[in-house]
Amino acid sequence: MSEPTYEQKLAGEADLWGADAERSAQSVPPDWRQHQNLRHNIIYHKRDINIFLDHIQPGMRTLELGCGSGWLTLAMAQRGAQATGMDISERALEVARRYAESLGESLRGSVTYATADLNTIELPAARYDVIAVKGTLHHLMRMDHVIAEMHKALKPSGLLWVSDSHGEESLSTALVASGLMFLLPTHVSYGEKIRGLLRFGTRAPSRIKASIEAEGLSPFEGAGREFDWLQLIREQFTIEQYINSPAVTGYITHQVRLPDWAALPLLRTLRVVDETLVRVGVLHNSGIILYARKG
Ligand SMILES: C[S@@+](CC[C@H](N)C(=O)[O-])C[C@H]1O[C@@H](n2cnc3c(N)ncnc32)[C@H](O)[C@@H]1O
Repeated sequence: MSEPTYEQKLAGEADLWGADAERSAQSVPPDWRQHQNLRHNIIYHKRDINIFLDHIQPGMRTLELGCGSGWLTLAMAQRGAQATGMDISERALEVARRYAESLGESLRGSVTYATADLNTIELPAARYDVIAVKGTLHHLMRMDHVIAEMHKALKPSGLLWVSDSHGEESLSTALVASGLMFLLPTHVSYGEKIRGLLRFGTRAPSRIKASIEAEGLSPFEGAGREFDWLQLIREQFTIEQYINSPAVTGYITHQVRLPDWAALPLLRTLRVVDETLVRVGVLHNSGIILYARKG
């Protein structure tokens, strides 16, 4: 069978994230005020996203690239910004538009969602106060192009906020994640775990590493790995702040099957231990949050 073309892969990417946005909106609307109370956000994203949102002032013009179901773009509009979100998935943008319209006049700012391929996008010069990109850069084949476009599109001293994985997961992270996955209750039964260990032996951690990196999930998963986005941003922007995310907590939070009363204290403790191990260099995390200014 011949390799899919770029257009076919892009259509697959748009479909995947469209279905994801539709499925997720069936249980919780794409609204950060509600999403922040979901378990993985309480444990992993809530603090960092709210600190970022504190940078948004009424009247600012903001842009989010790879906005998916639009919840972060909407959260910026809820803080009074004139917010635009762009994504390749028209289905995901429909979910975003429908929900924003349902809020009607209650929105402080304004919100617009537009379809765009970030690999070829041309942005207007010096237009935005803030540009945000979350979980999207590593899907892009022309990461160098989009970083140059974001630089062009920011006003002088404008803020670029990036949250993404950088580089590969380390062996130590894969080993610790494998151990936790083995010990904690997950969707895999203990019988299956023991059979998996006997079958895969020392190859088990590399399977967990592939799973952490979401290998094979999206047609473009890891497409941007040949680029070092941190270095590309460093070359054009002034880095203001660089936050290392914990190494294994995010992945384990998604996998663990326990009621909230047991899961939340356990995962909070795991996060503290994880952050300490990252700080002393025992664990390496690939998740980074970056604040950079157009110099
Ligand atoms: C991991 S999701 C993150 C979505 C959102 N930022 C969030 O955190 O919920 C990656 C997003 O990037 C979008 N995307 C991937 N490749 C793209 C491209 N070439 N142009 C525009 N959007 C793209 C996908 O449609 C998807 O919505």
